[in-house]
Amino acid sequence: MSTPRLAAIVLAAGEGKRFKSSTPKVLHVLCGGPLVGYVLKAIASLAASKTVVVIGRGGDEVKAACKQLTKAKLTFALQEKQLGTADAARAGDDALAKFSGDVLIVPGDSPLLTAETLQALIEHHRRTKAGATMLTAELDDPTGYGRVIRDAQGRVERVVEETDATPDEKAITEANTSVWVFDRAALRSSLTKIDRANAQKEFYLTDVVAVLRDKGEVVEAVKTRDPTEVLGVNSRVQLADVAALMRRRIAERHMLDGVTIVDPATTFIDAGVTIGRDAIIHPLTHLHGATTIGAGSEIGPNVKLVDTTVGDGATVINAVANQATVGPRAQVGPFTYLRPGAVLKEGAKAGAYVEVKKSTIGKGSKVPHLSYIGDAEIGENVNIGAGTITCNYDGETGKKSKTVIGDDVLIGSDTMLVAPVTVGDGAVTGAGSVVSKDIGPGEVAIGAPARTVRKRKPKKEGGRKK
Ligand code: UD1
Ligand code: CA
Repeated sequence: MSTPRLAAIVLAAGEGKRFKSSTPKVLHVLCGGPLVGYVLKAIASLAASKTVVVIGRGGDEVKAACKQLTKAKLTFALQEKQLGTADAARAGDDALAKFSGDVLIVPGDSPLLTAETLQALIEHHRRTKAGATMLTAELDDPTGYGRVIRDAQGRVERVVEETDATPDEKAITEANTSVWVFDRAALRSSLTKIDRANAQKEFYLTDVVAVLRDKGEVVEAVKTRDPTEVLGVNSRVQLADVAALMRRRIAERHMLDGVTIVDPATTFIDAGVTIGRDAIIHPLTHLHGATTIGAGSEIGPNVKLVDTTVGDGATVINAVANQATVGPRAQVGPFTYLRPGAVLKEGAKAGAYVEVKKSTIGKGSKVPHLSYIGDAEIGENVNIGAGTITCNYDGETGKKSKTVIGDDVLIGSDTMLVAPVTVGDGAVTGAGSVVSKDIGPGEVAIGAPARTVRKRKPKKEGGRKK
């Protein structure tokens, strides 16, 4: 027997009123990615023959983001006015054209949903040959959710939204999750029978339950085993709650893969981060974007890494890095700032109060204290004395220039390297040197050639008045 065909509809057109935001709700970010991305990812593994995203509020933005988030082919359906979840489902269904088979409907604001749960729901639906199968959850606090009303036999009778519920109905703790599987024909026929006779004057998708039951169709309800999976994000309060659960889930995945996370509650790891075995992540560490941590590395406490690669066995303490590369067994921190293009080769060090930008620090080379290294190429086994600055920026022309330092160089404390300048292999500079001319290999240079060379012309306007 061939497997029935599957289509998926993601409801992502809602206004997100409770968010009070100019950003569409499904684009609010959770652990490094927009809410809707998690839903698309869960759906991706189900091999649906068509996936429709219903867009409306901020539709162009949502569409552009969805296209970036998945390689899967998506169809976008515009819901002109946000008249409710049934109207959104209708817009999505219209985009399915001649499709026949099962239709999975998922809200774009439930990022914790897993592919396994969706798969199990689809299988249950097929096994029971239901017209519709809904996913429900037993929630400690179901406030804000639609409540599931079951009949004397325990079958679902209808769903009542919080705003329409009586106190008795509100006392019910089984909540609708807004995840559905429909037989397409049953979905189409029931959608036309839904009205807006409710407190919010919206077309509720939840009303299909009563419509289908009246027609004698089977409506199934499957209770999820993990009620946290179905939590929706309607406000920034719920965003923070769901983010905490997502962070825990991400941390558990890494811990089970052999990473020590000393305190998951104070560790912030984005969904796309990879971490090697036996790495130790200390509290107050933030790993963002496409950051990669090598095996056996020690990161934190107090570290923020964005799109940064850390090699095996490296240590990073009390540091901020963005688009940087820390080589194997390199050391960073404490109190270090690595900016885009900072590259520390194997065993290199950037220590306390050191800022590095668009520079390579060669294998085994050290910048231990109080230095600014910008637009520089530093060779292997170099020691940069405390207080060294690459003067890479000409304040008059706005031009940036390069400093090139060879291998085995000793740069004395407080050396100013006035770029463009080159220091040859094995050269040495004395403390306090101001290097504005190239130093050849093996040369020892000292002194500060600071002397008046010319006078600046006073600025006509805007300049400093005496
Ligand atoms: C909905 C359910 C509720 C359930 C809850 C679970 C209805 C009527 N209510 O309520 O029973 O407990 O989800 O999280 O279905 N959307 C559109 N167009 C619209 C309205 C909504 O695309 O016109 C989208 C939203 O972007 C969202 C999803 O549909 O992704 C659900 O809408 P939302 O307003 O969040 O519904 P809830 O009030 O949470
Ligand atoms: Ca919701």
